[in-house]
Amino acid sequence: MDELLSRQNLQWRDRARAVAREVVLPRAWKYDRLQEYPWDIKEALASAGLMKVWIPEEYGGAGGGVLDLCVVVEELSRCCGGTGVLFAVNALGSFPILLAGTEEQKRKYLPGIARGETLIAFGLSEKGAGSDAGGLSCRAEPDGKYYVLNGSKKWNTNGPAAHLNTVFAVTDPTSKSRRVSGFLLERDMPGYRVGYVEDKMGIRCVPVGELELENCRVHESQLLGGKPGLGFKHAMMTLDRARPGVAAQAVGLAQGALDFAMVYAQQRQQFGQPISSFQMVQQMLADMATKVAAARALVYAAAKAVDAGSESLTKYSAMCKLFATDVAMEVTTAAVQIFGGYGYMRDYPVEKYMRDAKITQIYEGTNQIQRLVVARNLIKEAGHLGHLERFIPVPEDLR
Ligand code: CAA
Repeated sequence: MDELLSRQNLQWRDRARAVAREVVLPRAWKYDRLQEYPWDIKEALASAGLMKVWIPEEYGGAGGGVLDLCVVVEELSRCCGGTGVLFAVNALGSFPILLAGTEEQKRKYLPGIARGETLIAFGLSEKGAGSDAGGLSCRAEPDGKYYVLNGSKKWNTNGPAAHLNTVFAVTDPTSKSRRVSGFLLERDMPGYRVGYVEDKMGIRCVPVGELELENCRVHESQLLGGKPGLGFKHAMMTLDRARPGVAAQAVGLAQGALDFAMVYAQQRQQFGQPISSFQMVQQMLADMATKVAAARALVYAAAKAVDAGSESLTKYSAMCKLFATDVAMEVTTAAVQIFGGYGYMRDYPVEKYMRDAKITQIYEGTNQIQRLVVARNLIKEAGHLGHLERFIPVPEDLR
């Protein structure tokens, strides 16, 4: 599908592919077993300049867009889904700064992120507020030129490794639409503590933990964008731009599992011939490849819509996330099936793809929430279909 990509996209894709094959693939299963952050992989990503893809040039970045980001995530995830998110989560954490940060905040943080020295996380979800992202209880009380934060965050991907965390907290509990604000919290700020670190089914090389905030007193200069009350909107705008990255992770995982299934199907002999010669296996491979191609095309189209600032970017971002991640679950499960009994075993490569794929249907908004977002936007946009109304008879007129 190279024809869907620009020369710049292809350069990023090829650069990421080289690092993924040479550095990520040989280490992926080791870090999965150890459930350890792969610092050597992170260094390789930074040395190849990949951590600066989405950061504007004036802040030390490469000035790429969401599609550039997606092709990198796809290639990394094709070799290791954990590495895909370990990389992409830095975009999720830093998009709020890009979208809404003050000039001072951008100059302070973006160059370090671009160099791969500052790792960042995105602290929205809480124990009681997952899909209902507006129902946060973490509190940030104003105190002169400071805010005092108390509460905790859950499923903070990259949090235990991160130096910086974009955290959303309630600044005005009396307001409905201006309740929440974003804060840029550094790991060594007093009252900031990494809590329980999760033991996960997949994406095991990237740590996911709780964040505990106890009288964490921060200067108002850490308030995202310098104005309170815009946090929910900024979080939603961020997710619109980050969800194609999750979808690209899913495409990479599906492609990686399909690659292994293709090799195995030609290698594995049963009834005196390779299983790839059986039509039932061929049907599975054909369906897998077709779904991956469809998912990839939608992800690229959605990323282009985001880069172009399309009015429909929220809808396309949700569509590609739900479609590609459902495809990833189907295709990685089918790959395990093609490997048969071996596929279920940890000595073989494909069960990791299936475990890594599952979370893509859940994080950055469950696929149920994506469908809700798509449907809400479809209904909002349906005004242009008014010309069809006269063709739908009112039952009374038919009598
Ligand atoms: N862009 C800009 N503004 C938006 C917006 C968007 N995409 N979506 C909503 N808003 C605005 C609305 O216009 C509205 O503004 P006003 O009050 O000024 O009118 C306001 O936000 C509230 O909008 P809604 O009434 O639509 O909000 P809601 O409470 O019904 O929730 C939701 C909408 C889509 C369900 C939202 O809560 C949501 O996306 N939930 C899922 C959250 C999520 O993805 N969490 C994952 C976090 S990250 C993670 O997974 C962990 C990790 O580390 C990887």
